[in-house]
Amino acid sequence: MSDAPLILGIESSCDETGVGIVRGTELLANTVSTSMEQHVRFGGVIPEIASRAHLEAMVPTLQQALDTAGVALDDVDALAVTSGPGLSGALMVGVAAAKALAVATGKPLYAVNHLVAHVGVGVLDGGELPDRLGALLVSGGHTEILKIDSLTDDVELLGATIDDAAGEAYDKVARLLGLGYPGGPVIDRLAKEGDGKAIRFPRGLSLPKFVGTAEAPGKHRYDFSFSGLKTAVARFVEQYQAKGLEVPVADVAASFQEAVVDVITKKAVMACTEHGMENLLLGGGVAANSRLRQLLQARCDSAGISLRIPKPSLCTDNGAMIAALAAQVVAAGVAPSGLGFATDPGQPVTQITLSDLHAA
Ligand code: KG4
Ligand code: ZN
Repeated sequence: MSDAPLILGIESSCDETGVGIVRGTELLANTVSTSMEQHVRFGGVIPEIASRAHLEAMVPTLQQALDTAGVALDDVDALAVTSGPGLSGALMVGVAAAKALAVATGKPLYAVNHLVAHVGVGVLDGGELPDRLGALLVSGGHTEILKIDSLTDDVELLGATIDDAAGEAYDKVARLLGLGYPGGPVIDRLAKEGDGKAIRFPRGLSLPKFVGTAEAPGKHRYDFSFSGLKTAVARFVEQYQAKGLEVPVADVAASFQEAVVDVITKKAVMACTEHGMENLLLGGGVAANSRLRQLLQARCDSAGISLRIPKPSLCTDNGAMIAALAAQVVAAGVAPSGLGFATDPGQPVTQITLSDLHAA
């Protein structure tokens, strides 16, 4: 075991309460409690329900993580917590818990960025991250392409969704097909029985006026939009139903999935090629999607980009990713955040850690 500091990370930005413990690049515990079942009947995450669930899950999740790692709270060298981006009330529960632990134990506390942590977690599965690194984050809450010059002080947002996140589109389309929540896994499975070329659904922000050229980039060259696609699927389904015809659900699922995955992979590879990023890390819950993994791997291979996908339990929201990023922040000699910082639901990726300077 290395003599790197022992870091405990807390995550509560959406519907997962996560507590993770790492030492350097070594994962010691990754305990997650999710309130997903409580959101099923609404077809999406209800912020107030998520916040209350975090409150109930926080102490048991913390206890279980400590037990799994076989350490006591006193052994921990530093604490870390997601300060944003995420759901306001949900973030507050994690930050309040982390501050309480910091006061009780006297340990330094680091407030870290959730999105950057999705990249930082890469060190726990495959070791140190390479230079010339890009990241593609795809989940129910985000769809972003990042350029990582330094994980601890230079991250740039190259592109993002201008409306729904990709996972959100899966969830909404699954709902209108009557497939339940969360939609991603069901559509992924059903799509295997359908024809992805059966229906040509729109590829958002793919027209030349948005994309431009490498020399004269359009305003939305690396951005995504999925709300038009969702509407196109809805119209298609309505037309079938109006005629009393049976909706070809498997073909719709496969064709919808193809539209999402085609745009995401094309733009991610384009961003990598144009920004000299020879390595790409895929993160977020949608990283579990079989077609996304397959097409991204194929397109990365053709473009000479090396693709890294951490194991699924590290791709979905968790506390280990917060601890893993904090471990790198601590190693880089960044000062702790103190206790004066506030949550930042819209925290930009450029704000990797918060300091007292950003206190509310
Ligand atoms: O990262 P995550 O667990 O939570 C956040 O949204 O932050 O991601 C959950 C999202 C949901 O929208 C779910 O439908 C989607 O990831 N998802 C998938 C698959 N598994 C989960 N989407 C497509 N294909 C999958 N196999
Ligand atoms: Zn996330």
